Amino acid sequence: MRYIGVFDSGLGGLTVVRSILARRPDINIVFFGDTLNMPYGDKTKAEITELALHDARVLEQYDPAAIVIACNTADSAGGAKVKAASPVPVYGVIEVTAKAAAAATKNRKIGVVATRATIRSRAYPKAIRKILPETEVYTRACPELVPLIEAGHLQKDDPEIVRILNRYLPALVNKGIDTLVLGCTHYPLIMETIAGLYPHLTLISSSDAQAEAVLDNLPAGAEFTGGQQLYLVSSDPSFFAEKARVFMPGAKKIELFTE
Ligand code: DGL
Repeated sequence: MRYIGVFDSGLGGLTVVRSILARRPDINIVFFGDTLNMPYGDKTKAEITELALHDARVLEQYDPAAIVIACNTADSAGGAKVKAASPVPVYGVIEVTAKAAAAATKNRKIGVVATRATIRSRAYPKAIRKILPETEVYTRACPELVPLIEAGHLQKDDPEIVRILNRYLPALVNKGIDTLVLGCTHYPLIMETIAGLYPHLTLISSSDAQAEAVLDNLPAGAEFTGGQQLYLVSSDPSFFAEKARVFMPGAKKIELFTE
């Protein structure tokens, strides 16, 4: 029996797991959330790459059939290195999300919100224009969102979240975008709030785009079904579990991973 390994800096990765399990509840999942080092989005490219390589090594201890980088920040900084170092197939998130955004836009004006590091990497504009040249891509880093989401601001229309969204989103919306990429796996947790503020936008969840791509390309020949789930975090599991339970009732047992 094997697993599909999934990693992120924290809660965001669970939106990818949730999306995979909503479509295929039989898949075995081992999840690692590097909550000790969260947020990744404010770190340097070299630091994030090291953390991403470490996260993949943690998962490799569980003999996964494949590894899912459920973190745009880790993918933008270290995706290529994780792929090069891994003995099993590795699924990134940015390319498949760019593909979904390119398929969704009608006016070729796309907005992207993500962490500082993802925006700085220019990975989204590059990936989108590779698929759909001449597309106008407007990007915005929203550094306050991940810490707020990790602190549990998950209710629809949470005033703190709305305040931050109102600070960053109008600049993108005023450019006439018809599609907004939620280029951080934490952001689907506040998707209803964003949709409520901007009902005319098509929202692309990187978590859903990635889950679909993973399920369309599962590694052949490996036995990874049975509905087993194992959740590991690198800091206080009870704090993480309390927040995870709000949107992911399946994640009952969350354990501390120590080297
Ligand atoms: N969930 C991660 C992403 O998709 C970012 C979280 C962080 O900054 O740690 O980019």
